[in-house]
Amino acid sequence: MYILIFLVMSAITAPLYGLGAAAASNFAVFIPALVAAIAYFQYDLLDPESRPIDVATEELLERYDFIVVGAGSAAMNNGRCNWPRGKVIGGSSVLNYMLYLRGNKKDYDIWEELGNPGWGSQDALYYFKKSEDNKNPYLTRTPYHGKGGYLTVSEAPYHTPLVAAFVEAGKQLGYKNRDINGQYQTGFMMAQGTIRRGSRCSTGKAFLRPVRLRTNLHVAMNAHVTRVLIDPTTKVAYGVEFVRDKKVYRIRATKEVILSAGAVNSPQLLMLSGVGPRADLEKHKIPVIQDLKVGYNMQDHIGLGGLAFLIDREDSITLDRVYSVRLAFVNTKYANASEDFPDIEFHFVSGSTHSDGGAQLQKAHGLTDEFYDKVFKPINNKDAWSVIPMLLRPKSKGFITLRSKRPFDHPLIYPNYFKDDFDMKTLIEGVKIGVALSKTPAFQAYGSRLNEFPDCAHITKYTDPYWECMIRLYTVTIYHPVGTCKMGPYWDQEAVVDPQLRVYGIKGLRVIDASIMPNLVSGNTNAPVIMIGEKGSDLIKEFWTKTAKYGRNYIGI
Ligand SMILES: *[C@@H]1O[C@H](CO)[C@@H](O)[C@H](O)[C@H]1NC(C)=O
Repeated sequence: MYILIFLVMSAITAPLYGLGAAAASNFAVFIPALVAAIAYFQYDLLDPESRPIDVATEELLERYDFIVVGAGSAAMNNGRCNWPRGKVIGGSSVLNYMLYLRGNKKDYDIWEELGNPGWGSQDALYYFKKSEDNKNPYLTRTPYHGKGGYLTVSEAPYHTPLVAAFVEAGKQLGYKNRDINGQYQTGFMMAQGTIRRGSRCSTGKAFLRPVRLRTNLHVAMNAHVTRVLIDPTTKVAYGVEFVRDKKVYRIRATKEVILSAGAVNSPQLLMLSGVGPRADLEKHKIPVIQDLKVGYNMQDHIGLGGLAFLIDREDSITLDRVYSVRLAFVNTKYANASEDFPDIEFHFVSGSTHSDGGAQLQKAHGLTDEFYDKVFKPINNKDAWSVIPMLLRPKSKGFITLRSKRPFDHPLIYPNYFKDDFDMKTLIEGVKIGVALSKTPAFQAYGSRLNEFPDCAHITKYTDPYWECMIRLYTVTIYHPVGTCKMGPYWDQEAVVDPQLRVYGIKGLRVIDASIMPNLVSGNTNAPVIMIGEKGSDLIKEFWTKTAKYGRNYIGI
């Protein structure tokens, strides 16, 4: 069995080194490779140990059993997406840390209740543990963590004195210090990350290195997949078209094409291939093969950036300390506190936007000089801490649509942040909890005081409209877009894939990435996407173990 993976980012190739081409006929090769490809494009764009092994076009085979499309166009720029709305900016760069968060059990139980059997919290836990190699002996004695998996999970190697204050402040507000990936999520915790021996453990390092000597896996870098080839009569996906070195090629898939290009590129590729909303496709003169609501149901995590508190103590905060992250999951007045289903996440940062004197973070956050100079310049290099309150389950939904039928054009993205007023209301309450943290004895011991935004000075201080003003001035996206190829049962009009992740109406085509999430999970999406990859691999393995002898025409039956 042969597998071909398309990857586009040129700097991410390290773990692929050594993969070659020779025959083997088991599914084991495919499993980790698929998981890696799925999660790949999001997590680890720059591994200094990178060694590209790139199968040259003339060495590619004419046909493969499985073709995995790991990343599509360059809609992502340096790991962040250039969203079209100017005010919304990528916030994750302050968190240079591969956070390991699973979300809430209820998230997955809701997926299952929506008509997706096999995706409940117990199933999810099985796959989380399957990947996991948790290095915390206390945690691995609980039923919630695994040892011996491909993905190393551990704490960051150092802490600042302020992180102790954060957990203490949480206790003073009545929250517990606990494993937020364990039995309960509500509480405060030192974040775990996908970290191996002090440096980041990318999915490439985790999943592909161990299989690098397996030989039935080809990886094609810098090959831009432009279309899935689908027979319009039989509706069978039989290969992909791609562009490499300015030439167009076609390669056949005898079993399946798997899109793992992420919540922006997977829907774009489907639409370019004739699978999408009929009216949109007809507008671009793309022949409609299957009318599906591709690109809709988009959800993302957003929060308030720059909620910073100056402190008197000189626990001098330098840029490298910014990266020690603590987390908390808290309930606003809109959450049911007896349910353990918190609605706000806090990223605690022992520093703030200005902690590097404007060198990097201003640019990373896309802040204008005017805004930066007003809010942060006066406090340049002063000691401070900050929290980023993040809305866990936004009600606002956006969509992605084609700009044109040209595959190299970026799609149009309409995130619709705050379209539903409840999102703003909830985030305002989250900001208030952040401010309440600063008022606890633990943080008052540092003399913590809010760094205000002068542009909100005309509003009565600390009222809801005041917090709303701050949020609108400095909204950050944590860049977790999901949901654009929604998984759902056949009666769900918005569903693009079924609970086996197969595209409705098309044979031999699956989507396995963040775009299948029916609802955004209550936490960072790294670990959940790896879980989807693990589960997706098993679904494929199961399917082909049972039906391989009948051949591909039985796909989808
Ligand atoms: C809160 O959750 C509890 C436990 O599930 C439930 O019994 C109660 O009815 C909920 N309250 C509200 C206001 O929904």
